[in-house]
This record gives sequence, C-alpha cells and structure tokens, in this order.
Amino acid sequence: MILSIESSCDDSSIAITNIQTKELIYHKKISQELEHSIYGGVVPELAARLHATALPKILEECKEYFKDLKAIAVTTAPGLSLTLTEGVTMAQALSLSLDIPLISVNHLKGHIYSLFIEKESLLPSTILLVSGGHTQIIEAKSLYNMEIIASTMDDSFGESFDKVSKMLGLGYPGGPVVQKKALNGNENKFDFPIPLRQSPNIEFSYSGLKNAVRVQIQKLGELDNLNEQDINDICASFQKAAVGHIIMKLKKQFKKSAPQRFAIVGGASANIYLRNEIDRLLKEFNCNELLLADLKYCSDNAAMIGRVAIEQYNNNDFTNMNSITTAARVKGF
Ligand code: KG4
Ligand code: ZN
Repeated sequence: MILSIESSCDDSSIAITNIQTKELIYHKKISQELEHSIYGGVVPELAARLHATALPKILEECKEYFKDLKAIAVTTAPGLSLTLTEGVTMAQALSLSLDIPLISVNHLKGHIYSLFIEKESLLPSTILLVSGGHTQIIEAKSLYNMEIIASTMDDSFGESFDKVSKMLGLGYPGGPVVQKKALNGNENKFDFPIPLRQSPNIEFSYSGLKNAVRVQIQKLGELDNLNEQDINDICASFQKAAVGHIIMKLKKQFKKSAPQRFAIVGGASANIYLRNEIDRLLKEFNCNELLLADLKYCSDNAAMIGRVAIEQYNNNDFTNMNSITTAARVKGF
C-alpha cells in the first residue's frame, strides 16, 4: 500500500491505496473552508497552522496500515509553499522512520488522475483543468508526456468565482455558492463581456470580467443596496460569461484539433453549467467521450495523489529524501 498526503492549499488529506488493486483503503480530508471564509480567501499562515494540527490527527487513524506500506507519496508542487511544507515534512518523517521510499507528486497530475481513482487510467485525453489556481488545456498522452497548450494570463476560473463571491459578501469558496445563487438568477440581466473575445490566441483571462462585476455592483449602489434578486442575477450573468469564455477558447482549439476524448478536472469541474456547456460543445465536434471525476474527488484530496503515486511506484519513480523540494509556482509538470 501507499500512504499519500495532500496539503497544497486548504485541505488536509491522507489516503491509503492498494498498489495492485488500486482500491482506496482509507481516505480522509479535513477542509478549512470555514476558517478562511471570513477572509474571503485562503490565508497561507493560517492554513499551514491548521494543517499542522489536522494532518497528525488523520495520521493517527492510519497507524494500523503502517506495516503494509511500501512508499509515502506527497504533493510537492504547485501550491502554497507554507502549506506544502507541512505535508512534505510529515512525509519525510514517515519515510525515515518506516524506512520506505518517497514519491514526489505533482498536484496537477493528481487532479488528472482523480478521473482514475479505483479505476484503470484512460489516456491520451485532452483535458480542461479548472481549479482555484489554474485554468489550463492540457494534452495528456501519458503520465510522463503531458503538454500545457493554454493557460490563464491572470486569475483562474475558480479564483474568479471566489473573488465575485467575496464582492457579493457570499464567503469562501465562491464556486458552489455562486453556482447556487445563479440558479435563481437571470443570466441575461447584465451584459458582462466575454474575456478576450477578439483575441485569436488560445489563452484565458479573468481580471477584466472580475472588474466588470465590480463596476456593476458600484452602479447598483454598492453591496448594501443589492437585494437578493440583484445578487442572483449578477451570479448568473457572471457565470454565463466566465463559462462562455472557456467555451469560446475551446471551440478555437477544437477547430485546430478536435478531441477524441475530453476530460474536465479540478475543483471547479464540479460546476454544472460548465459541464453542460462542454457536453454540448463536444457533441458539435462529434466527440462522445467526456470523462469526469466523482464529485467528491473534484476538489483537492489525497486519493488522487495516491492514484498518481501507484503509477510512479510502478515506474520506480522515487525521490531522494534530501533532494525533495516544494515548488509553489511551477508552470509545467
Ligand atoms: O482544485 P481545488 O479544490 O483547489 C485548487 O487546487 O485550487 O479548487 C478549488 C476551487 C475554488 O476556487 C472554488 O471556488 C472552485 O474550485 N469551485 C467552483 C465550484 N466548486 C468549486 N467553481 C465554480 N463552480 C463550482 N461549482
Ligand atoms: Zn487542486
């Protein structure tokens, strides 16, 4: 079995996975959403402190499996350096005391392999990764052959939901609450511009859309003057533009190269509006294979890190105890 640890942002999670059967033997996650909600976003120092208490608490429940462990896997990049270090320190201590190797896992590969938890992997695939830190189109041929073909120039898709939510006083994380409010809103009420509409490039940007929402809130007389319906309408109109941006860029990409298989991963892949619009787009391009992770595995978790680690274990892809490093901002894999 492999014990995997995830602490790249605000979720403390540990999983134990059977290497041969891929079965998830144990999985627990303690989220810090409540603690960060009042700040409207993740506060790294607070997150690191919460990991320092949550991770050992979860680990305590895994002790019975220690004798069966063959490796320790841990997310090393990308993420918040302060919080990554909490997981890495625990992984080093376990590796040393149990005398088993370390596996350094890329968080983005983790999101991709969230599709294959307790399953065989199914690559190649074109992948849309939408999370709090990333908005990317990836051509994933195999675990060791992944190419990012488009990224965001500023905010990510999930982050834009978080920022709009903060402006509307709806708390953190913004994605689920904005999506919920949008259900009761009129998506045509406010004409927010779809970002980079004229640009021929396949890249993303959310800062302009975020500012358009800010200006609209000001026009309505600031937050205190907004009624429930205004808030719902802003959420619906924003979501339509945010998703419309992705659809427009994917369409450009598909015209160049239509996908055989497509997948959406990352915390924001839980967005139903996005899922439905992409489903429609894929049909236009005669692609009938859309892969989605179970909703419970879309956001950060250690099960996805364990699933990547099985592949790395089978490839003898281990990391030296002393050379293991964290990298907060890495662009590629
Ligand atoms: O993958 P994840 O758990 O953490 C990162 O690696 O960043 O993604 C969290 C992000 C947050 O920005 C959250 O607001 C967003 O995913 N999110 C959503 C939805 N559910 C979560 N965004 C839009 N719609 C959703 N339903
Ligand atoms: Zn993530």
